[in-house]
Amino acid sequence: MKIFFTVLALAACAFAQNIEIAFPTEGMDIEAGSTINVQVVEHSGSSSLANMGFAVTFQHCEEDPCENFEVAGLGGIFFVGPFNPQDSSPPQIGGVFQNVSVTIDSETEKGLAIFNVPRAALIGANAEFFTEVANVTVNIV
Ligand SMILES: *[C@@H]1O[C@H](CO)[C@@H](O)[C@H](O)[C@H]1NC(C)=O
Ligand SMILES: *[C@@H]1O[C@H](CO)[C@@H](O)[C@H](O)[C@H]1NC(C)=O
Repeated sequence: MKIFFTVLALAACAFAQNIEIAFPTEGMDIEAGSTINVQVVEHSGSSSLANMGFAVTFQHCEEDPCENFEVAGLGGIFFVGPFNPQDSSPPQIGGVFQNVSVTIDSETEKGLAIFNVPRAALIGANAEFFTEVANVTVNIV
């Protein structure tokens, strides 16, 4: 039983931060009213990972650094749907990716804002339920 839990903990560790927001980059200036591609990269993991889905959410930060999503929630939903990342060519971003085009409302409050990307997957032969949330803080100008 102990061994079983250790293996689970290791699996969870290995998959922590499996995805990353490659674009926009941390601290980037984004003009309110502009349309950008949020690029979500999945680093090469186990072939026994079955993706369920992901979302792209966004909100203004009240504090610097931004409040954690566990406190402030994930924000407004730009996209929710299946996660089906594709190979990049040339393979320069260290994994497969999926882009989501989002338009930042022109009325968006200036200053710090955060993109959150929650995703869910099933891992391994026993289909362990796995979730994670990647984020990036940007500057709305
Ligand atoms: C995905 O988004 C990134 C960041 O904006 C961009 O550099 C890349 O060209 C996009 N790729 C595709 C296939 O849209
Ligand atoms: C953003 O992600 C990092 C790494 O997982 C985490 O430490 C941090 O608390 C997150 N920030 C927010 C505001 O959720």
